[in-house]
Amino acid sequence: MNTDILLTGATFEASGNPMTSHWQDVVRINTDGALLIRDGRIVALGDAPVLKRSYPQAKVTDYSGKLICPGFVDAHAHYPQTAMIASWGKQLIDWLNSYTFPEEMRFGDPSFAKETAESYLDLVCAHGTTTVCSYTTIHPCSTDAFFAAAQSRRMAVVAGKTCMDRNAPDGLCDTALSAYDDSKALLERWHGRDRLRYAITPRFSPTSTPEQLSALGALWAEYPDCLMQTHLSEQLPEIRWVADLFPDARDYLDTYEAHGLLGARAVFGHAIHLTGRERDRIAETGAALVHCPTSNTFIGSGLMDVAGLAARSISLGLATDTGGGSSFSMLRTMAAAYEIAQLRGTALHASQLLWLATAGSAASLHLGHEIGLLQPGLVADLTILDLSSTPAIAQRSARANDIWEAVFPTIMMGDDRAVADVWIAGQPVRT
Ligand code: GUN
Ligand code: ZN
Repeated sequence: MNTDILLTGATFEASGNPMTSHWQDVVRINTDGALLIRDGRIVALGDAPVLKRSYPQAKVTDYSGKLICPGFVDAHAHYPQTAMIASWGKQLIDWLNSYTFPEEMRFGDPSFAKETAESYLDLVCAHGTTTVCSYTTIHPCSTDAFFAAAQSRRMAVVAGKTCMDRNAPDGLCDTALSAYDDSKALLERWHGRDRLRYAITPRFSPTSTPEQLSALGALWAEYPDCLMQTHLSEQLPEIRWVADLFPDARDYLDTYEAHGLLGARAVFGHAIHLTGRERDRIAETGAALVHCPTSNTFIGSGLMDVAGLAARSISLGLATDTGGGSSFSMLRTMAAAYEIAQLRGTALHASQLLWLATAGSAASLHLGHEIGLLQPGLVADLTILDLSSTPAIAQRSARANDIWEAVFPTIMMGDDRAVADVWIAGQPVRT
């Protein structure tokens, strides 16, 4: 018989979207909270004394003084870029050519792909991330390696073979036909198996011919429950290049839409320099945008208008964009999101930052029915935060007047040392 597990501590609870409602109305921290886990899922959430009385047989793990959060969801990452994170001195196109493409070439070797996938997933778990949506490389074995590593860790992940048939080195190009065939074989092998989902993945318009974009649009029409992920309007020189490559397109988004690659299950990374038409079409279609703040500053891309996009009710996720981003940590990513919003005149609240990193990202990946909230029925993927993980953080949180003031220093200054424990599908992970 499986034993019930009761976790007690402060619980981060959301009943709505604090980016579109007053955060006080929809998010709270219950400082004497508890949740009951049975068969890998959350079955009850409430006050610790009440749940202790209701489930006297449950095995209790006490996280008093710590914050029990849904596991962090990194909605845009490139696991093959793990080893070249923090590469100096280039902006997007030079950065891709100098650092990224040479590293991605190595993933034709299945054992290298396996080793990197395993160490990447161990790293993100140690940082409190329980779900990632990752690009792989053009090599199908890099996608197999990633899904296999996630499956053995019982993680919910989204991934897809990166497709490129131009403007990349010879060893890193597929074709319109092979991208279609390989993506189809991979999605039939992995999509919906255990907790794995497939995302059809054209890298971005500059590295796909119109023929390849059309082939992938046709594939998505055949498998509409898959996601489609790509990059959109990250840097100004990139946008000018797209305009040259697609002279008939109305804008960058149109290069995707014209080939059947826009819809509610589309997930666009970056989306910084959008035109009014692009914003309108994204809002109309229900596509999601993913904010990658450490990447957007590190590669010099720009300041995404998070508050303005949220006000349009556009679905927003948060992500590291490893290795364009400069950290594996979603705490560091929340801090960067705060700083970018400040530069645009908005102070995001701790509740909004935590929500973006959990429920917001989960919803952007259409996984809100499975992860992202402490809610009965959802899978128990959890991150337990120590709110005094370093002397610098501890001396600040000791001065806090309320729980949010105690949490905010960990968001701004925390890293993997703040991650006390991680649970995946109701079991603790040794990080
Ligand atoms: N645009 C196309 N490919 C990439 C990538 O790997 N990282 C980032 N940040 N932007 C991209
Ligand atoms: Zn990216």
